[in-house]
Amino acid sequence: MRRSVALGCGAYLPERRMTNDDIARIVDTDDQWIVERTGIRERRIAAVGERTSDLATRAAEAALAAAGIGASDLDLIVLATATPDDTFPATATKVQAALGMRRGAAFDVQAVCSGFVYALAVADSMLRCGQAATALVIGAETFSRILDWTDRSTCVLFGDGAGALVLGVGEGQGDKRDRGVLSSHLHSDGRYHDLLYVDGGPSSGAAVGHLRMAGRDVFKHAVTNLSAVVEEALTANGLVLDEVDWLVPHQANRRILDSTARKIGIPAEKVIVTVDRHANTSAASIPLALAAGVADGRIQRGHLLLLEAMGGGFTWGANLLRW
Ligand code: ACO
Repeated sequence: MRRSVALGCGAYLPERRMTNDDIARIVDTDDQWIVERTGIRERRIAAVGERTSDLATRAAEAALAAAGIGASDLDLIVLATATPDDTFPATATKVQAALGMRRGAAFDVQAVCSGFVYALAVADSMLRCGQAATALVIGAETFSRILDWTDRSTCVLFGDGAGALVLGVGEGQGDKRDRGVLSSHLHSDGRYHDLLYVDGGPSSGAAVGHLRMAGRDVFKHAVTNLSAVVEEALTANGLVLDEVDWLVPHQANRRILDSTARKIGIPAEKVIVTVDRHANTSAASIPLALAAGVADGRIQRGHLLLLEAMGGGFTWGANLLRW
């Protein structure tokens, strides 16, 4: 059975660190409130003129180096972002040009914080049905650009960054022992649009506005939906939670991570956490966490990874990936 196998991953974070104390100089908040409610201690902020495509290109270069292949070997880029450089063309095409990739296809996927889970599902489908043989899946965001820096209930939560994963094609037996993407499970429910959105945009006739969120409602839905999709992914593969080596979740905030881990029953030591250093980087958070787990040696070849995310839409989903 044809499988999409991970060849390497990489990450990029902008240089500028913004601590909670730095934010407390802008809005009425403090380090203790932010740490207690979210677990976030600092986030990175893109420099003036540094765009989502710049972050994505740096992460992609790191992932290609880890995979030991060049951009000319790629025939697909799927880039997840809710903060594209421009309305069009896709940010993925800018990354394609910057990498020097002259063939294949590049496009964006928009599922906000679930973006990487969606992008991985799309790339995996295309690889498995033979439309591509080598793919780059990227999550990249500059959320600092769409935050309302006068709203303390949202501006403390997010950061900028990018992560990337290179996929190739391998052969498996078609069961849970295979290396590669075992399955993806995607969901959305558009009735919840108003609980998390950015106002404005091309067809509304208003310039791109700011992120708006009903935090408590998002929290409740997140824990419920994430636990359900984790269960769905395990059941679909005849797996039990004990067989999962690492949960690599979207890093929304520490309390969502802890509540979800408790609800599904996975020990905290098996959860890769970067939210303290990166805050919520939306579609970039899973590949950033993945790259952190690989770089420090926790994630090893053959380990079973469970990726899960939820975001605006609402959208949510999970991928099971044997590294
Ligand atoms: N500093 C100090 N006080 C604050 C801050 C702040 N940064 N933000 C809000 N407050 C105040 C509020 O004004 C309110 O004060 P009041 O009681 O005097 O009115 C008080 O703190 C409580 O506000 P709540 O919004 O009820 O606080 P809550 O305990 O719900 O925590 C939070 C807010 C952290 C946003 C929480 O709801 C949450 O984690 N929600 C999940 C949302 C999320 O992470 N979204 C990310 C995108 S979606 C995703 O990725 C899954």
